[in-house]
Amino acid sequence: MTEYIVINGENPLQGNVSISGAKNAAVAILPAAIASSGVCVIDNLPLIEDVTNLSNAMNSMGAKCTLQDPHTLVVDARDVTGYTLSEKLSKNTRASYYFMGALLGRFKKAIVPLPGGCDLGSRPIDYHLKGFAALGATYVQEHGVVKLEAEKLRGANIYLDCPSVGATINIMIAAVFAEGITTIENAAKEPHVVDTANFLNKLGAKIGGAGTATIRVIGVPSLGGGEYTVIPDPIETGTYMIAAAITGGDITVDNIIPKHMDSVTAKLTEMGCDITEGTDWIRVRAGSDLRPCEVKTAFYPGFPTDLQPQMATLLCKAQGTSVITENIFEHRFRYINELKRLGAQLKVEGRTAITRGHCVFTGARVTASDLRAGAALVLAGLCAKGETAICGVSHLDRGYERFEEKFRALGADIKRVKRDE
Ligand code: EPZ
Repeated sequence: MTEYIVINGENPLQGNVSISGAKNAAVAILPAAIASSGVCVIDNLPLIEDVTNLSNAMNSMGAKCTLQDPHTLVVDARDVTGYTLSEKLSKNTRASYYFMGALLGRFKKAIVPLPGGCDLGSRPIDYHLKGFAALGATYVQEHGVVKLEAEKLRGANIYLDCPSVGATINIMIAAVFAEGITTIENAAKEPHVVDTANFLNKLGAKIGGAGTATIRVIGVPSLGGGEYTVIPDPIETGTYMIAAAITGGDITVDNIIPKHMDSVTAKLTEMGCDITEGTDWIRVRAGSDLRPCEVKTAFYPGFPTDLQPQMATLLCKAQGTSVITENIFEHRFRYINELKRLGAQLKVEGRTAITRGHCVFTGARVTASDLRAGAALVLAGLCAKGETAICGVSHLDRGYERFEEKFRALGADIKRVKRDE
């Protein structure tokens, strides 16, 4: 039996949806918690596979992770002695690489398999390793495992070739324990970089400049415990905003930080949607006709690559020709073949995809190749004539909490079923 998400489309979605904690903040903060010598209480965690996988990995190294409630995890890292992450527990999520910075920082040793995660291209970790070396660590990579160690970590001036989110966060975590001052130039500015810095500062770290291109860290000998609430997920937020536009609906996303959504709000406004916002909500009313536009993904505060597949799906419905340029990952158009089975017309030329718009989506059986590709297929199914059956549901469960329940509450005809192949 195979699990499918089955959608009967063409219902305009209406109502309010409460956004969960940010996946890409949670998957950095949890590994960072193992660098604490105390007890951390982390709240507003999304109920997703990646969080479960990471807490299992932490337990395997001697931490005691217990759920206080479905969205609050208590991490007692006082008795962590292990600095080795097993292959089995690391391959399910790319974020396992954050254990490198956390374990190297606290124990001056780390043995972590190379990360897994969505297949969007080569996704090397050379910037991470260069940063650890600048802090005084040595490393070898053999049999798919990275072994890091350092007599001691010393502050350094580190320049990133590109504002890599993962490298920025990973180096920042290790630098917390480096004697002296570390600067990270050309740092990523994403909200989850700021969230991870704020979490570490709650534990006693001294990090300044997170959210700007230059992060400064003054080293401390150890971290204590503390309580922290994860920010809302900008990518989940954007996915529901686009769902309002593509189904001709009217959706209010609640418990969010509107500032994080500026690039998405600007694009949907340019396409003719009526958008209003308050302190912690945004309302999106679809325009009668969707205008075409150009979208170029960029590092924050530019348009996020994690909403590129969802936006490309929407642009197929616009009344005219649109151009999408993917500037972050070299293979992030792989979802388009499956999207074409639902009626999308998108022509890919290198890092650019072009659609003439006016696409009519009709239901079919499709397969999600990664998390955000799955989200794009759901959005297409929501506006398609007839039934769409999406397999590869596990990808969606990695990053979207209870998405079929949330969409059903907005009026979608969507359910999770098991079917023979
Ligand atoms: C994070 O991936 C996110 N994942 C991705 O979200 C997101 O798309 C990406 O940042 C956006 O930049 C998590 O936070 C777990 P990067 P990450 O380092 O850290 C190159 C999702 O769907 N690079 O910012 O892997 C890299 O190849 C996922 O939630 C190097 O060359 O991304 C890419 O072209 C998908 N060497 C660019 O930098 C390195 O050492 C940006 O990658 C690191 C990165």
